[in-house]
Amino acid sequence: TTTRHYNFEIKMQNVTRLCHTKSIVTVNGKFPGPRIVAREGDRLLIKVVNNVPNNISIHWHGIRQLRSGWADGPAYITQCPIQSGQSYVYNYTIIGQRGTLFWHAHISWLRSTLYGPIIILPKLGVPYPFPKPHKEMPIIFGEWWNVDTEAVISQALQTGGGPNVSDAYTMNGLPGPFYNCSTKDTLKLKVKPGKTYLLRLINAALNDELFFSIANHSLTIVDVDAVYIKPFKTNTLIIAPGQTSNVLLQTKSNFPNAKFYMLARPYVTGQGTFDNSTVAGILEYDDHQQKNPKKTLPIYKPNLPSLNDTSFVTNFTKKLRSLANSQFPANVPQKIDKKFFFTVGLGTNPCSNNKKNQTCQGPNGTMFAASINNVSFIMPNVALLQSHYKGQSNGVYSPFFPNSPLIPFNYTGNPPNNTMVGNGTKVVVLPFNTSVELIMQDTSILGAESHPLHLHGFNFFVVGQGFGNFDPNKDPQNFNLVDPVERNTVGVPAGGWVAIRFLADNPGVWFMHCHLEVHTSWGLKMAWLVLDGKLPNQKLLPPPADLPKC
Ligand code: C2O
Repeated sequence: TTTRHYNFEIKMQNVTRLCHTKSIVTVNGKFPGPRIVAREGDRLLIKVVNNVPNNISIHWHGIRQLRSGWADGPAYITQCPIQSGQSYVYNYTIIGQRGTLFWHAHISWLRSTLYGPIIILPKLGVPYPFPKPHKEMPIIFGEWWNVDTEAVISQALQTGGGPNVSDAYTMNGLPGPFYNCSTKDTLKLKVKPGKTYLLRLINAALNDELFFSIANHSLTIVDVDAVYIKPFKTNTLIIAPGQTSNVLLQTKSNFPNAKFYMLARPYVTGQGTFDNSTVAGILEYDDHQQKNPKKTLPIYKPNLPSLNDTSFVTNFTKKLRSLANSQFPANVPQKIDKKFFFTVGLGTNPCSNNKKNQTCQGPNGTMFAASINNVSFIMPNVALLQSHYKGQSNGVYSPFFPNSPLIPFNYTGNPPNNTMVGNGTKVVVLPFNTSVELIMQDTSILGAESHPLHLHGFNFFVVGQGFGNFDPNKDPQNFNLVDPVERNTVGVPAGGWVAIRFLADNPGVWFMHCHLEVHTSWGLKMAWLVLDGKLPNQKLLPPPADLPKC
């Protein structure tokens, strides 16, 4: 195995966008943060040194972390945060994965500025299952806030209302020319004619699913979430926070007499999503051979779907199929040991605003909350994985997360009168190698909404999806158990459901949550505790000596 070393110094840095300068939390002073480049099979040692006042933890989103749960990163789930002045070495090996993933802070809303690409190349000498690209470039989507995002979320949690929204979307940290005072901060991709480029797309935005398109060029999607798929062509794609995708861009065979906008803007289904115009980059053919290099070329714009175009999203996601060949088989669990039915959606908590004559700013004077099976997750003060490892779960978490809603209702009819959630720190305990089927149903409480659910520690297969209420008698007949897409983040459709399957072959504590940060903050999160197996290679590795203390 090759070992690759990275140093991540967390430090403050002044950054200017939209004519606003602010001091932001960065890795090594860079925004977006540095790229990690490795090959399948490599071991990574990433030393994170915290030189900012905030507590920090970093998550390697989509990395399976087989037996190395201590390196997964979500604060208070697998580790205590790295305190100011402290450091921690994340130590893990990339097993059976190649493609694009990303890293981001996993505490409070610090991932608004702390994120960067993870590029995993195939093992040396192993080709891609598609034509070798001339060049590869990551495009990482994000959101820019003129204000401090820590203040935004703490104010929202105090008042119970919805948080303020960002000021711009970005590509590689750049908002582009459609925002005020931003033309100089435009991503430009220089390409040559007649070549194939691999774009590594990452949605690191806090709160919005995005449509993406390049004028006059189609894209061939070759993988999602670092798993190859059956390639297909599209003009536009949809990518949710937490999702990644590799796409091939074939450039025109001649120098075109134009430039081309690359645009992204949100898919809006409910609370917490918004349209704040459009982030634009420009695809430019390298024009040094052109006759009139001085002439200003027209810039063509693509047409993006309308903001609420759920039928585009549905058609797109139905096209995603695993490659499922002999080299890259789809190991879909066929026999299921345990079935779960989770409702996911918003809800409310009673007003607990302590400022006297101020009402809470959530629905009808309550506070916004969100839950899974009506359990709104309360973050513990110590890390779940350590409590479990030391056998000290008492008073930290309960192992009785409900397998199904206690009081079922019509999830796509009129919402129930009582929208209050229950609160608690509960986990599902799974014996090693349990094969799991999980139905996730949007509740439509306070509005039907698409929720990109992300599971740590595993990839899962998306075996079915549909609208309305899941029907346990009929819907499983249509499950795809042959070549369903394999990924780590899936959109639970607004007013519908999604069915996933995974094999719990990774001992540890694994977070699952909506990757819209506002919903995570409101409690749309839970954890799976997977027990050790009997064999030595089925056990969680011991904790590293420098694991941060709470
Ligand atoms: Cu990308 Cu738990 O997150």
